[in-house]
Amino acid sequence: MFMNLILLGAPGAGKGTQVEFLTKERGLPSISTGNILRAAIKEGTPIGLKAQEYISSGRLVPDEVIIGIVKERLSQKDCENGFILDGVPRTIGQAEALEKAGIEITAAILLDVPDNMIEQRMAGRRTCIGCGATYHVVTKPPKKENVCDECGGELTRRKDDDPETVRTRLKVYHEETEPLVDFYRERGKLFVVDGSRSPEETNAQVLEALEKLK
Ligand code: AP5
Repeated sequence: MFMNLILLGAPGAGKGTQVEFLTKERGLPSISTGNILRAAIKEGTPIGLKAQEYISSGRLVPDEVIIGIVKERLSQKDCENGFILDGVPRTIGQAEALEKAGIEITAAILLDVPDNMIEQRMAGRRTCIGCGATYHVVTKPPKKENVCDECGGELTRRKDDDPETVRTRLKVYHEETEPLVDFYRERGKLFVVDGSRSPEETNAQVLEALEKLK
């Protein structure tokens, strides 16, 4: 079935982890604005240079930059039969821009996780510098220490995962992104999943929510 999905949730709620399951299970491309921006920073592109300061301080990159990135990515052929948006939209302005551009959303799935659990997750997260896959030193360790199971790349700690920046990101989430919960609820598109369970249990709930769309 054709599906355009959004994964909503606080930083560290497990959006990237669930996207990894879903891309394998549903064969849909995923669009992570965080990954696109980090790649742009690594390459030193004009967008990367602009985004760097926002990301390292835990603030949101301006809407006009994000909207441009997303429209360009969604116009590519692999998105014709559906896609998963990870970490976007993140403001009402971004969600309205998607609507104005005629981009239909099938469902927005909220991964609901309390803030204290988020802080623990971020402290143990490791990210592959090659493919962006995420691990956790306790809940999802790689087979070989500091080496990505998927591509053999080195695993590192993201700079914006230090505790102080995580607290800023959570504050920004509650102020600027949480209003999207009501935005999609009012449109009858919201599904809430308990994201505090294990990755596999959370994935089972996400799949259950998707079954209701048939
Ligand atoms: P982005 O990269 O999107 O980061 P985020 O939304 O803050 O989310 P994360 O990637 O940190 O976490 P996640 O929810 O994917 O969790 P994960 O699966 O890794 O954005 C970074 C920055 O870019 C932003 O701060 C902003 O500056 C900018 N930006 C990006 N998009 C933007 C936009 N649209 N507008 C404006 N600015 C934008 O899981 C976290 C950890 O927990 C991992 O270690 C994982 O293994 C573990 N874990 C996951 N699930 C579970 C589970 N169920 N149980 C136990 N452990 C788990």
